[in-house]
Amino acid sequence: MAGEQSQKDVLPTNEVYHPGIGSYQQTYRESIEHPEEFWSNQAGILDWHKKWDKVLDDSNPPFFKWFVNGQLNASYNALDRHIKHGKRNKAAYIWVAENGDEKIITYDGLYRRVNIFAKALLDLGIKRGDKIVIYLPMILEAPVAMLAAARIGAVFSFVFAGFGAGALAERINDSKAKMVITADGAFRNGKVIELKKIIDEALELTSTVNTVVVVKRTGSDIQIDEGRDVWWHDVNKDSSVYVEPEWMESNDPLYILYTSGTTGKPKGAVHGNGGYAVWTASTLKWAFNPGDDDRWWCAADIGWVTGHSYIVFAPLFLGLTSIMYEGSITYPAPDRLWAIIERYRVNLIYTSPTAIRTLMRFGEKYPKQHDLSSLKVLGTVGEPINPAAWKWYYENIGHSNCPIIDTYWQTETGGFMIGPQIGLGLPPLKPGSATFPMPGVEPVILDEKGKELKDEEKGYIAYKKPWPGMFLTLNNDPDRYKKVYFEKYPGMYFCGDYAIRDKDGYYWLLGRADEVLNVAGHRLGTIEVEDALISSKEVAESAVFGKPDPVKGEVIAAMVVLKEEFQDDTEIISKLRKRIREDLGAIYVPEEIHIVKSLPKTRSGKIMRRVVKAVALNQLPGDISTLENSASVDEIKEAIEAFSKEAKK
Ligand code: PRX
Repeated sequence: MAGEQSQKDVLPTNEVYHPGIGSYQQTYRESIEHPEEFWSNQAGILDWHKKWDKVLDDSNPPFFKWFVNGQLNASYNALDRHIKHGKRNKAAYIWVAENGDEKIITYDGLYRRVNIFAKALLDLGIKRGDKIVIYLPMILEAPVAMLAAARIGAVFSFVFAGFGAGALAERINDSKAKMVITADGAFRNGKVIELKKIIDEALELTSTVNTVVVVKRTGSDIQIDEGRDVWWHDVNKDSSVYVEPEWMESNDPLYILYTSGTTGKPKGAVHGNGGYAVWTASTLKWAFNPGDDDRWWCAADIGWVTGHSYIVFAPLFLGLTSIMYEGSITYPAPDRLWAIIERYRVNLIYTSPTAIRTLMRFGEKYPKQHDLSSLKVLGTVGEPINPAAWKWYYENIGHSNCPIIDTYWQTETGGFMIGPQIGLGLPPLKPGSATFPMPGVEPVILDEKGKELKDEEKGYIAYKKPWPGMFLTLNNDPDRYKKVYFEKYPGMYFCGDYAIRDKDGYYWLLGRADEVLNVAGHRLGTIEVEDALISSKEVAESAVFGKPDPVKGEVIAAMVVLKEEFQDDTEIISKLRKRIREDLGAIYVPEEIHIVKSLPKTRSGKIMRRVVKAVALNQLPGDISTLENSASVDEIKEAIEAFSKEAKK
């Protein structure tokens, strides 16, 4: 990527947005040199019920504690304090349905709905510390449920509504959730996805859930289990109640969000209250500097961390007005994003490179149909943005007048780690670079052995110091937390990504360095797909890898070896696809599945995915001296060639 960068820096022309990089540098220096003082001041971005005794307790690394003994409540900070300070009638969300319906909910409206649902949760037996799984589409009940859980100190785990029953059951079991909040169905691309059916299937595989709360969204015909299922509208009948917020210690958990790793078992990243809240609110302000009158649109799904932090918590902490859109960005036509920007006069838009590349493919005629002059800032997240997409976004959407805020971060980091910061001083932008770290973030580029690399050298990115938004641990697995993130480089947080710092100090993020895929900005584990394949009765072995894709960044490809009694036929492939869709969810379904007779393995029997991928991509497989059955390399090559021929027909 760095090689692709333009020679000439691109300077946004709107002077308002760059007070100068100098003020950023000063703030950054203060955060590194005087962290106690810096974070103590910064925590004033929230209202605290009780002030902390200590900013950072690092006596038991890597279990860091921020704002120790401070007490606060996330829903109080998102709602109550705005009601008290003149924002009662301000719109919190302008919600747009896929069919074009709209609802505007004020801070007062949201506050009332959250209190009513918090009371319902208490009445249904949920108390502080209990776990709740939320499996909802992009409807207003999603933030209501998250905030109501936060209000009573229950820990929610949102599962993206695109996941299948197996993935859902695994998350329910790991979190030991007592309740699931879902909808009868979801609208997507003009079709209905039957969510409740998926829940019913998942609950066959779990035993902890006593109650399922069901929002009526699509009017689908669903099964109601009388002793277990209740309708959302039946438990939300009160017109007005007040539930005293539970005052949470800063390091009490707020939510668990599962993300993929290098094993089949997803990792439950646990985020806390105080540090997370300070981090999300601060980073949104630094990076995008939204004004009180601006309209902010984070066009991610609420089920991923981007939605948690920047559709729900940070914008509400800052008292902003957000757009929330229910459906697909290409439905009913590829101008949907641009039409919403025009209709609601959106000022700041935050989306993914995959979305940009998808819309870019449809051409300039779609954005040209709309007046996009309300836009002031464009943001991206989730994957490296290639300079061509960056420029298209900059020129065709921002009309060369809006800076692009490329934010690099992860589920585990809670909020932005690297990105240009309008609020502190915007640097000249380089298409494809996320530029500079947020205050308090000290990145370093290392080689395999931990030696610090020079500028322009590609290596692994790590952070030298803890930051307030970092996750507390992995649910039920503190050892994995230590092992995955803190063992490779003792004393540092290892991100799992490759990066380069150029001679001007800009960071270029270059993708995952492990066997984790990034498909359309979604982090998926190769092993999860392999496990699903192997658990099919037909499959003996499988190797899953990422194939570069011009729109989605990467797509999933799989090689499978069938058990002897099964024949290679197209029916098996469609069966395997169906199984993955039902078990893990549609986003996990491989674009390509090839059946081969064997897979390359080491002498100890480990499948060499590196070789499978290299051969499949027509690259040299590197060192294959440790391969047990090198003949299969040729076979994989043959399978790929045959497939390419088929595809060309
Ligand atoms: O590889 C990096 C990539 O997405 C990974 C994190 O995925 P996830 O936890 O699902 O969170 C996505 C939303 C924050 C990272 O390890 N990534 C994320 N943002 C960028 C990125 N890669 C390059 N540039 C980015 N701006």
